[in-house]
Amino acid sequence: MDTKAQLALLVKKQAEARLGGGQDKIDKLHAQGRLTARERIDLLLDPGSFEEFDTFKTHRCHNFGMESTVYPGDGIVTGHGTVNGRIVYVYAQDFTVFGGSLSETLAEKICKVMDLAVKNGAPVVGLNDSGGARIQEGVESLAGYADIFLRNVMSSGVVPQISAILGPCAGGAVYSPALTDFVVMERGNSYMFLTGPKVVKSVTHEDVSVEQLGGADMHSTQSGLCDYPAASTPDAIDYIKRLLAYLPQNNLESPQTLVCTDPLDRASEKLSSIVPSNPNAAYDMKALILETVDDHEFFEIKAQFAPNLIVGFARYGGACVGIVANQPAHLSGVLDIDSSIKGARFVRFCDCFNIPLVTFVDVPGFLPGTAQEYGGIIRNGAKMLYAYAEATVPKITVITRKAYGGAYCVMSSKHLRGDINYSWPSGEIAVMGAKGAVEVLYARQSKEAPDPAAFLAEKEREYSETVANPYIAAQRGYIDDVIPPAATRARIARALKLLWNKRDSNPMKKHGNIPL
Ligand code: HXC
Repeated sequence: MDTKAQLALLVKKQAEARLGGGQDKIDKLHAQGRLTARERIDLLLDPGSFEEFDTFKTHRCHNFGMESTVYPGDGIVTGHGTVNGRIVYVYAQDFTVFGGSLSETLAEKICKVMDLAVKNGAPVVGLNDSGGARIQEGVESLAGYADIFLRNVMSSGVVPQISAILGPCAGGAVYSPALTDFVVMERGNSYMFLTGPKVVKSVTHEDVSVEQLGGADMHSTQSGLCDYPAASTPDAIDYIKRLLAYLPQNNLESPQTLVCTDPLDRASEKLSSIVPSNPNAAYDMKALILETVDDHEFFEIKAQFAPNLIVGFARYGGACVGIVANQPAHLSGVLDIDSSIKGARFVRFCDCFNIPLVTFVDVPGFLPGTAQEYGGIIRNGAKMLYAYAEATVPKITVITRKAYGGAYCVMSSKHLRGDINYSWPSGEIAVMGAKGAVEVLYARQSKEAPDPAAFLAEKEREYSETVANPYIAAQRGYIDDVIPPAATRARIARALKLLWNKRDSNPMKKHGNIPL
């Protein structure tokens, strides 16, 4: 065969591979509003940057006549490319080939890109759309899943791992995305569950739809598995691209610092009036965050799950930070089971990848009640404590109003190695709120007082003035400075510069034992 013929053969084989399971299956996918694996990769990567691996790799299964149904690539497209010029390893399951089901071969292809990503220090993005284990293969397929899970765990904290769920994701298929750092799901077209509605019906007799059992909305609001419910595949992929811009390539690098045109000393007078004079009135912490960060841009994670705690990425002076903030506009910003888990996971992610933490505090405490106690608020609240205590990245804290009880300790306090701790003059740092405190302290006297309500109100005022302010903590040095709200942006940006070369470490150990 001459060179020309060899090249023609290559082009023919490539074209065959690009057809996946065939044009009819591609048409069916399109009719459902879904894209093919290659179309998804094209959306993710910079034009022309994709280099594919294992285009011609096929399965080796001989069960159930499988030897006569062989597709080049075997249900997955893998390789690498760039997103905004930075290398990313990628795999996209191809539903047109055996429903994207996971064969031994398919797992090998995923493992290859995961191994390369760790060796070369670049993120892995997985675009999932699969019917689960390849039923014809049996144990080879299960082994393939386990090989992937092992790599998910070994890569955790070494390179960022991001999953998009763009179709079915059931059975064993769910655990690999669950082991990755971020999960984005497409609303309407994707679902994640261990067992589908039919099995649920036969075991628990519950009638539940696919959407209710494992849709993007359920996982965004209830299970907390999904970080962003996307309106469409382009929306999901756009979210991933924006997310990648905040992340370093690996755990040995810092995130990129961008050129900042937003003045660091931009004083915001809006901040001076954001905290209401009534200590029990709500305000929107997100508006406060937006007022302080570069270009008013905040990239929120898990916005719909436990909204009493806000987490996400932003920049100060071009430098990337992870922001954790209580949200007084939802449940008064209280810490409960879900918000503790959400916060702890985010803090640990930032610590893995050298992303400084900025914490805004307005928290009345941990949520009381049997539901929380039975559900394990002690164990789960401890996760948040653990995460902040072990984090060695720069930690900057701004108390805007309440910092009560155990929640004061948890929210990046000086005692958990907070590096720079500021409070606004409106800060209230105390064991508990004034009302609760005087009810305990003056229970007997108030009953004897001629006007118990007036007596308690006076004691409440006295308590607030003497105890619930930032100055006692400042006298102890637990608060480094009490700052005017308008100066918050400038002070955070300056603190970040100060802490740029921070080095801190934890005692040598195999690993800690976070309360799970
Ligand atoms: C082999 C599969 C497959 C699978 C789908 N296909 N799932 N082939 N193994 N797991 C094939 C179908 O036979 C069909 O082939 C094509 O993919 C498209 O599937 P459809 O059923 O036509 O698509 P749709 O109606 O959209 O339904 C999608 C689906 C359904 C909901 C995912 O296919 C389904 O229920 N599949 C089985 C899911 C499952 O039970 N997986 C195993 C989970 S157990 P043709 O040739 O007709 O186009 C598991 C354990 C792993 O994963 C544990 C590891 C720890």
